[in-house]
Amino acid sequence: IVICERCADCLREMDLYVWDLEAGGDRVVKKNDHAMDDMRYFVTGVLAGSAGFAACVPERKISNDDMATIVETNDEWIRTRTGISNRHFADKETNLSLGMEAAEKALEMAGISKEEIGVVIWATITPDNIVPSQACMLQKELGLPGTVFAFFICAACTGFLYAVHTARSLLCSMPEKKYALVVASEVLSRVTNFADRNTCVLFGDGAGAAVITLDENSRYAFDCGAEGNTEVLYCPKYYHDTNPFAENLPEPAEQFVSMQGRAVYSFAVQALSGSIQRVAEKVGGYPDCYVCHQANARILQAAAKQLKEPMEKFFLNIGEYGNTSAASIAIALDDCVRSGSVKRGQTMMLSGFGGG
Ligand code: UT7
Repeated sequence: IVICERCADCLREMDLYVWDLEAGGDRVVKKNDHAMDDMRYFVTGVLAGSAGFAACVPERKISNDDMATIVETNDEWIRTRTGISNRHFADKETNLSLGMEAAEKALEMAGISKEEIGVVIWATITPDNIVPSQACMLQKELGLPGTVFAFFICAACTGFLYAVHTARSLLCSMPEKKYALVVASEVLSRVTNFADRNTCVLFGDGAGAAVITLDENSRYAFDCGAEGNTEVLYCPKYYHDTNPFAENLPEPAEQFVSMQGRAVYSFAVQALSGSIQRVAEKVGGYPDCYVCHQANARILQAAAKQLKEPMEKFFLNIGEYGNTSAASIAIALDDCVRSGSVKRGQTMMLSGFGGG
């Protein structure tokens, strides 16, 4: 089990506990300058197709008690209804700075040079700019090759998985490109209505990143879906309408997330358990570990019950971060592997659901 801070520098200085499968599965302690090499080996074995990953959250941590100072709520309600205790809100950080830090750490962990990155996909619903896209900004800031295939996608809570699958498909279709960098970053505090207690206690800011490569030994299956619905989960886009020829300018909408919690809850439980079931049928069984979108611990409990799967298999870290939309699965993946909740040789299923 690797017990660590999430930064690679700390990892280098720490004792690493790894299982040496070639030596009969005994745990050995590594304490040397090559610790990261062992870590990389360990992680590559666990995650088919992923060479490195990392996460980054804003410095400022906001507790449930802090939230109770701005809306009528309390720690007990938030914890028992959602599993959330804290979340992080950006202050000086931007969507780009969070994602970039995660991306740099993921690249470092993968141990590849920037020149080897052929594809960059950035998943978010809260980009700093539309043009240039977050992915293009990352190309500039990290000095990635000018030949990189870079764009951003908007798929809310499923964003990271849509991006990973797209990255994988692009690597399959462009054999000259060996690695893809997938970043999922959100600054949901910019679109949160802090006067609405139904939603503002749920969300948080953060980012995760993964370096993806094709692994011919991996087993991979994918299931997806989409459904347009502005009734239950909605965040409008606000534009200054300056068109001098328009006769009926629409009223500018407030750019806040609104949600009918109960309806989304029911949808989420069905979508999650149905999708897991379909992938399990494709690969012929359930995995050892699930890393799902962290929207509400009760959603995962209800899905586990429907699937008759033990809740212990479902990784949970919503307590510390709240719901970070596209970033949530990427952050959970990083926490799950670094905390040793999944072990080398085990199988893993990732699943997202929600708006977008
Ligand atoms: O990532 C996108 C996907 N999003 C989701 O998956 C979220 C899905 N939905 C949920 O997780 C849950 O529906 C919520 C956590 C949002 C709400 O939990 P709930 O058990 O469905 O509560 P509710 O909305 O039915 O509200 C129950 C009560 C209401 O009071 P009354 O009408 O019973 O008197 C609410 O006004 O709780 C009240 N309430 C609160 N009380 C204290 C709502 N928000 C709060 C709050 N603090 N923050």
